[in-house]
Amino acid sequence: MRRVLRVLAVLLVVLVAVWFGVCGWLVLRHPPVRFTEEELQAPLRAWPGGFLWGTATAAHQIEGGNHNDWTRFEAAAGHVENGDSSAVAADGWNRMLEDVALMRAIGANAYRFSIEWSRLEPADGRWDEAAWARYGGLLKALRRERITPMVTLLHFTLPLWLADRGGVTAPEFPARFARFASEAGRRLGPDVDLWITLNEPNVQVYQGYVSGQWPPAHTSPAEAAAAWVGLLRAHAAAAAALRAADPGCAIGVANNLLLAEPKSRLLLTDWIAADRVNAFWDWPFENALRDGRARLPLPGASVDLPMPELRGTADFFGLNYYFRHLVRFAPGQPNGIAMEPGPGLRSELGGNEPPGDSPPEALYLLLREAWRRYQRPIYVTEGGIADDSGTLRGPLIRGQALAIQRAQAEGMPVRGYLHWSLYDNFEWDKGYRPRFGLFRVDRATLARTPAGGAAEFAALAPR
Ligand code: FCB
Repeated sequence: MRRVLRVLAVLLVVLVAVWFGVCGWLVLRHPPVRFTEEELQAPLRAWPGGFLWGTATAAHQIEGGNHNDWTRFEAAAGHVENGDSSAVAADGWNRMLEDVALMRAIGANAYRFSIEWSRLEPADGRWDEAAWARYGGLLKALRRERITPMVTLLHFTLPLWLADRGGVTAPEFPARFARFASEAGRRLGPDVDLWITLNEPNVQVYQGYVSGQWPPAHTSPAEAAAAWVGLLRAHAAAAAALRAADPGCAIGVANNLLLAEPKSRLLLTDWIAADRVNAFWDWPFENALRDGRARLPLPGASVDLPMPELRGTADFFGLNYYFRHLVRFAPGQPNGIAMEPGPGLRSELGGNEPPGDSPPEALYLLLREAWRRYQRPIYVTEGGIADDSGTLRGPLIRGQALAIQRAQAEGMPVRGYLHWSLYDNFEWDKGYRPRFGLFRVDRATLARTPAGGAAEFAALAPR
């Protein structure tokens, strides 16, 4: 009996030593990143030559007058807060030139926007010439103002003819998307050097097929896996089509990254839980492009597929950043994980959404990790905060600029920052309540006026 107890005691000591040893190693390996008070207060450095400092929008959120899977979804009661619809949005379709003047007024030298597939190809294989010409006109206007465009091909919304056949899970989706990409490259390529094939594939899969809060509002692990693989295939096919139609262009994906950190840095289980969140949410899509192999640890429908055609399909890494979370191991919760908002400025996106980030540690950490993994130039393709008062946006922008400048000072090729968003717009299932704009849009008149953050944005613009 005594021997058994002694063995147990030794085992316990070993276990505790290993536990704290590993934790100590993790703590040392990931020291908390801090920005000193001086750094936070000091004037920012000049941007490197060619740095893009601009804003980002998406067609469906600003244009109005679209007919796609989202407009159909919005029509059903309870899908969008306050019953809001995108029918008018911010009337961006009719105000493109006015919008370019807004960009000029705040010193932006870049604009990320999406072209609406459902407008350009309203029926399978039929192109709408007038719609192509309108985006062509926007590109010319941007060029006149020396504003570099970054064009997104798919920012969540799908033509109805495709949605009706299964959307991103439809077997023909990759080929149809590649045909659209080829057309875009051929027609617009002379004015576009930077293409984003997909916006936030992880969000599209999660919202559409896991939580079911966005169209097609399914909750099926098998369909989620099919959607994820469909988006990978579509990206690969579109990248090949763009390279053929617009030689010399640069291609990337805009990835939604969150920062998950252990709630207690002394608990190994919290480190593991945080790592699982990052590994599941942040990296699988880009890992697949890097490795030519699609692997997704999806509970109930994990994916592991060789896809060599993915290699070399991305020239840069697009990083959309909004949220940081503190994560802990919680045996009673789904997947044994509990998340809560991390430190930062509180976004008004909704309900229990965690805060945006400033001070700037989280964006810096994500830039560092993206660079370590992929060694490709990085664009911050979105960063912003829902902030009706307008008081948080200025500090957020300054914090994000500081994070980028620290990364640049350490040799990371961060090439641009596209603030979300140019003006208030239709925020998906949250409707018009969250205000992300550097310009405030009056819902009655649709007039745009500078919001909190516009002056700070302008003050940091490259000269
Ligand atoms: C991102 C989306 C963008 C917008 C912002 C607030 O995840 O890409 O369309 O909704 O969030």
